[in-house]
Amino acid sequence: MSIAAYQPLCERLGLDSGDLPYTPDWSAAPDFLQLIVDHALTHKPAVIVECGSGMTTLMLARCCALNGGGHLYSLENGADYAANTRAAVARHGLAQHSSIIHAPLRPYTLDGRDYQWYDVEQLTTGAIDLLIIDGPPGFIQKHSRYPALPLLRERLADDCTVFMDDAARPDERELVGMWLEEVPAARHEYIANERGCAILRMTDAGINR
Ligand SMILES: C[S@@+](CC[C@H](N)C(=O)[O-])C[C@H]1O[C@@H](n2cnc3c(N)ncnc32)[C@H](O)[C@@H]1O
Repeated sequence: MSIAAYQPLCERLGLDSGDLPYTPDWSAAPDFLQLIVDHALTHKPAVIVECGSGMTTLMLARCCALNGGGHLYSLENGADYAANTRAAVARHGLAQHSSIIHAPLRPYTLDGRDYQWYDVEQLTTGAIDLLIIDGPPGFIQKHSRYPALPLLRERLADDCTVFMDDAARPDERELVGMWLEEVPAARHEYIANERGCAILRMTDAGINR
């Protein structure tokens, strides 16, 4: 994916496309960003949490600015990535719309299995309206992104929407199945874009309790 592919989104959001926190092969693709930007601008979420910072952070912080409200909390396990994303967001004048939290991975045991996932101690938000899952990296462990739902579920708003990037990968397909077994009332939609996007609409009152 070349950086030029982000130009239309930048134009739409009024972002300087010459100064993007872009990492080849690691940044979310424009078609995933388009989905989450459309959602954020339409639904104007008050509390957004994302796992894995970078292009998603910049775009979502800009959505909060355009919406005139809302705040993005970004969990980032890499200290350098957190610092780079924080600096990029500040250069775009969006620091007040986002909190980039350096959250090192720590051990959790879920359903008898061990995982490394973000330390969520510092995540002190109100109910989460929009959850974006684009980390931790898949090489860390099998089902690397699985802990997001069990660990954050009780913090989700009753009408929360969850987007997960890279959902075309076998690992991510499996973990969506695990989530749906645990939360059968969640409405799942799969978008067959470049890397696949899983959308879970947790819209039934009480589903997250
Ligand atoms: C898929 S990336 C997150 C991308 C981010 N949401 C974006 O749109 O740019 C997941 C995580 O991988 C790590 N990461 C990013 N670039 C990397 C690289 N070049 N090598 C290794 N890890 C990287 C960071 O910790 C990041 O949070």
